[in-house]
Amino acid sequence: PVVTPFSVPMPLVPVLSPVSTSGGVDRYEVTMRATSKEILPGLTTDLLTFDGHFPGPTIKARRGRPVVIRQRNETAVDTSVHLHGASVPQNSDGSPMDVIAPGAERVYTYPNRQRPASLWYHDHAHHVESENVYRGLHGSYLLSDADEAALPLPKDAYDVLIGIRDAHFDTTTGQLIYTMSDRARSTILVNGAPYPYFEVAARKYRLRFANTSNQRFVELGLEDGSDMIQIASDGGLLPEPYTTKTVYLSSGERADVVIDFSRYPVGTKIVLKNTAGFGPVEEVGQVMRFDVVRTADDPSSVPSTLRTLPPLPQPTAERTVVLRMDEDGRVDPKAYIDEKLYDPERVDARIRFGASEIWTVTNANAKASHNFHLHLVQFRVLERAGAAPGPAESGLKDTVVLKPGETVKLQMTFDSYRGTYVYHCHMLDHSAMGMMATMKIC
Ligand code: C2O
Ligand code: CU
Repeated sequence: PVVTPFSVPMPLVPVLSPVSTSGGVDRYEVTMRATSKEILPGLTTDLLTFDGHFPGPTIKARRGRPVVIRQRNETAVDTSVHLHGASVPQNSDGSPMDVIAPGAERVYTYPNRQRPASLWYHDHAHHVESENVYRGLHGSYLLSDADEAALPLPKDAYDVLIGIRDAHFDTTTGQLIYTMSDRARSTILVNGAPYPYFEVAARKYRLRFANTSNQRFVELGLEDGSDMIQIASDGGLLPEPYTTKTVYLSSGERADVVIDFSRYPVGTKIVLKNTAGFGPVEEVGQVMRFDVVRTADDPSSVPSTLRTLPPLPQPTAERTVVLRMDEDGRVDPKAYIDEKLYDPERVDARIRFGASEIWTVTNANAKASHNFHLHLVQFRVLERAGAAPGPAESGLKDTVVLKPGETVKLQMTFDSYRGTYVYHCHMLDHSAMGMMATMKIC
């Protein structure tokens, strides 16, 4: 690794304060700008940031209370701010062509009518999103409601965002290196810091894992093989918690887990390992370390049921989607949805407003993995590789992994907004290579 692991503390991502909360609306003002920060000891790294923070500040929203954000672009590139996992009107979706030019600004309105979930926001400007996100334009957006707050889950200081991503540093200058499909992105950052340690009390924590990497997939687990309890996925709380040793997250996916550190004596140090993805295991095989430093009261618990899923309506339409990219080693590989490159002028899927559709999505590659994300809707995973999905996919999702040759069957209902939205592979280098398409709900 480029730094000694577990030598820096894990930063807690700051929560953004609204400039106004009047009229039942939380208003924010954010400036996207270039900043330099010390990430590797003694070196500075140039970043693109929301309000100077890397990663971007967390926005805490309440269901039923709209959020309005004025985003000012003071960077030198086009940007577009997409709220991943959210159901929002088209003009606030931050779609690839709806860019904010340098020097301009745009107001995004998020109605927050959907169920609570750990969402995230990131750049989506066509052709530059992959690099913009890589250089720092990503942050979290945590939506809650009274029902979730009433559960006895760990809260406040014991409810912690753990944003995980990779990076490739020039170790003499400290600068981020960006090239397409770069497999040398093997330094793991947690909340912006390389392989940090996090001092915890010997009690339960809710950890909100978010994989904000461009294309790295991770499989997280504690080094002693002990249990975690997964309570939420992309679209919020699972119907019921389940106990697992690992959490698999493709790029863009989130999972909330509860870990009970009271099983460890004070003084214990436990590494969070990663057992998936490319790269040398001594670099990518470890993520961070939890250091149990004190005891604490723990009134929290994990209820045996969390949140009932919305009913699955009778499907009204079915369609198939095939993801494939060139994997023959050509110099300028392209990536396709249904054998077509993204064309913002073309509508690929016409959807009747109110329809509940089953989408059968296949990864047609023999070696390359993909994942699949739709804007606007949260979906249910009905089947993975012909079988019922596991408990990690029992709730609402907005992004699903597709290993080589794999097929998933999804169901989603288009009853929130009409308009034009995209769906794509969330390996951002792949969407930049063309693996994106347009749906029109009308
Ligand atoms: Cu995370 Cu099209 O988005
Ligand atoms: Cu892909």
